[in-house]
Amino acid sequence: MAKVILLNASPRANSNTLDVLKACAEEIEKNGVETEILSLKGMNIQSCVACLKCREKGNCVLNDGLDEIIDKIRDADGFIPAAPVYFGTARGDIMAALQRIGKVSRDTDKFLTWKVGGPIAVGRRGGQTLTLQEMMMFFPINNMIVAGSTYWNMVVAGEEGTAFEDTEGIQTIRLFGENVARIIKKTR
Ligand SMILES: Cc1cc2nc3c(=O)[nH]c(=O)nc-3n(C[C@H](O)[C@H](O)[C@H](O)COP(=O)(O)O)c2cc1C
Repeated sequence: MAKVILLNASPRANSNTLDVLKACAEEIEKNGVETEILSLKGMNIQSCVACLKCREKGNCVLNDGLDEIIDKIRDADGFIPAAPVYFGTARGDIMAALQRIGKVSRDTDKFLTWKVGGPIAVGRRGGQTLTLQEMMMFFPINNMIVAGSTYWNMVVAGEEGTAFEDTEGIQTIRLFGENVARIIKKTR
């Protein structure tokens, strides 16, 4: 069965980003595609050190747990990274993770090719669009397919547990999830 990996970059226990990903995953599953939500919470993700050892090893040599996530993405048909907005841009660890995931793919078997997905940003007040633009850079350079919706994949939420108050945001994410599943089914 086709599968989508959703990656939460929030460090919070009651993460709004996680609630948004759950809504997204629900819609993907409703449309016949399996999902798994992973988290960077508790991890200490390092930035790429440009050692280029992934070319020989086929994976990243940095020993911080990202390789397990890379292996799950490699086996999946879709990938959706989601980040809280921090100071107008994406939380740092997700960008470090995306840069390493992309480098491993590009320099090894190009496993990201034709995987379907897109980024999601969650913030209290502002910076979601720049966060999406930042994360969006990952997709075309890795020969991936980005699904659309009727707005950008952003949710307005600050305090824990408030994501569902942004009904338009959640509706946008649900349609995005449905589209991810439908594109996967059409292209597999
Ligand atoms: C260090 C820090 C910086 C933040 N910067 C912004 C910001 O620039 N814009 C914004 O809208 N929200 C900002 N926020 C609020 C979070 O994006 C918001 O609380 C979001 O819901 C967190 O998602 P989470 O619950 O999944 O961690 C910031 C929060 C923290 C901790």
